[in-house]
Amino acid sequence: MASHVYPKKLEKFLRLPLSLKIHFTGFLLGAATREFLFRVHHLVNLARLRINGVRHGRNLKTWGGIILSIYPGSRVVLGEDVSIISDGWRSTASTLFAKTRFRTFTPSSAILIGDHTGLNGTSITSRSREISIGAYTMIAPNVIITDSDFHIPWPPEGRRLYPGFEQDAKVTIGQNCWIGINSLILKGVTIGENTVIAAGSVVVNDIPADCLAGGVPARVIKTYR
Ligand SMILES: CC(C)(COP(=O)(O)OP(=O)(O)OC[C@H]1O[C@@H](n2cnc3c(N)ncnc32)[C@H](O)[C@@H]1OP(=O)(O)O)[C@@H](O)C(=O)NCCC(=O)NCCS
Repeated sequence: MASHVYPKKLEKFLRLPLSLKIHFTGFLLGAATREFLFRVHHLVNLARLRINGVRHGRNLKTWGGIILSIYPGSRVVLGEDVSIISDGWRSTASTLFAKTRFRTFTPSSAILIGDHTGLNGTSITSRSREISIGAYTMIAPNVIITDSDFHIPWPPEGRRLYPGFEQDAKVTIGQNCWIGINSLILKGVTIGENTVIAAGSVVVNDIPADCLAGGVPARVIKTYR
């Protein structure tokens, strides 16, 4: 049966105008090449994670490079079945402005990513505190999460000289959350489980569980239960 079907498909393909044949073949070769390069990149990522002391659970999936800058003694732990997307070809909802990045600055920095979590060009920077993301949380493209302002706001001459480490604060994103495209999650914030953060939000205060929050600064828009 299959032996009849395949030649018919081939016959149909051969009857296509030359320009369509070239485009179609190019498309197939392009997709196959891209997939092959993603697989090679994945192996490189696994090696780089290991070299940098990043621990991860089973079935880690990566597409494209990861920016890794891990301070010795800090902790970066990825759970099971975590997806890390760093390439606009693989990202569903939008293009990506940059690769996913994990950066830690001190031995007390920690980045803890829960099981089945998805990152899309996410920038996670822990200067001195813990940043944790709960299991099953989806992070849409281009989200930035940081535990630090990196400079004190006042006085102006202190901005470059005084690092203000004491103002760094832990960030906790609960399980089953959905963080919308291009959102910023800043120092000291806790987002409760199941909550949705609308696209383009700037989260500077705690947000409770089971709600939709959004805006600049993000506030609760509605509660789901
Ligand atoms: C939050 C979202 C999912 C819409 O959810 P929804 O339940 O359909 O919400 P609605 O459109 O009914 O809006 C509810 C309220 O939230 C407000 N709102 C929705 N999106 C908002 C945003 N991004 N920022 C600020 N307020 C927003 C609406 O204006 C509305 O306010 P109102 O009640 O005063 O009129 C959508 O706005 C969003 O952010 N989409 C992007 C999701 C994303 O990042 N996807 C990437 C794939 S991983």
